Amino acid sequence: MKKIKYSEITPEKIYKKRRKFIKSLGYGLGSATIGSIPLIGNALANTDLTKPTDYEYITTYNNYYEFGTNKSDPYLNSQEFKTKPWTIRIEGEVENPMSFSVEEILSSFSSEERVYRLRCVEGWSMIIPWMGFSLSQLLNKVNFKTSAKFVEFETIYDPEQMIGQRKSILNWPYIEGLRIDEAMHPLTTVVTGLYGKSLPNQNGAPLRIFVPWKYGFKSAKSIVKIKFVKEMPNSSWMIASPREYGFYSNVNPNIDHPRWSQATERPINGDMFAPRIKTLMFNGYADEVAHLYSGMDLKKYF
Ligand code: MTE
Repeated sequence: MKKIKYSEITPEKIYKKRRKFIKSLGYGLGSATIGSIPLIGNALANTDLTKPTDYEYITTYNNYYEFGTNKSDPYLNSQEFKTKPWTIRIEGEVENPMSFSVEEILSSFSSEERVYRLRCVEGWSMIIPWMGFSLSQLLNKVNFKTSAKFVEFETIYDPEQMIGQRKSILNWPYIEGLRIDEAMHPLTTVVTGLYGKSLPNQNGAPLRIFVPWKYGFKSAKSIVKIKFVKEMPNSSWMIASPREYGFYSNVNPNIDHPRWSQATERPINGDMFAPRIKTLMFNGYADEVAHLYSGMDLKKYF
């Protein structure tokens, strides 16, 4: 059978942006080739690092416990979820608390394609062409006080629409948090869509956060509130299992989850037997973010 080249099957728009996207993956391919990067070496030989995961997998293999705990549940159970009208409130340690409708946000901030890797703590990964803008642009609209040290994200609480919230799987509403400097980092993204389309419900419509260098659970979906706080927030996952889920949760191949290794990952591409690849420190974004943690013991602050 004739082997189809990637360039022949890639949607044109994405193919054109390929260079930009390789750069955003954080593998530093500007000057080096894949094979010459010592960390990834042979394990990646058969994996096309530049190919975004198919739309089908990004939108049917999800974690969104508000809609159920199976990977297909969010797709199956979220289609009727109402995302209009929707308001996001920014409050807490700020001079001027503000509320924004999604329409205001979409018209005030221009979304660009941002292709980032998502590494789930469960050991799989995807490469996702998100649409979005830096969260810092939105946070700069309110004047936060010097007393603000962390930012807390809150997902909508609506058990009538979200069947998962009728059970106490997690401490609802879903809460996540970042340190202020992490939240203000340009890679931290407000996601408005994917593959050039509006964001599907199962991926966190109408707006979700994405933090490329952290395990996927830090990226809260369908947010309704962003709160500036003095103390480190207690996230839903920290409450569920503090031994397993720390506040920082930076992707780190050297620190195992108590029940499994985090050294490798399985790219989601429909092939259950695809070779696992080595996970990169900070999910490949070390050049951009390692300085945020200089001097910190990452075993202690996992
Ligand atoms: N946000 C909410 N509100 N509820 C969730 O269950 N799951 C997290 C994160 N955000 C989750 C959430 C986890 S574990 C992952 S891996 C990512 O969403 C998955 O995002 P995706 O389904 O768009 O790939």
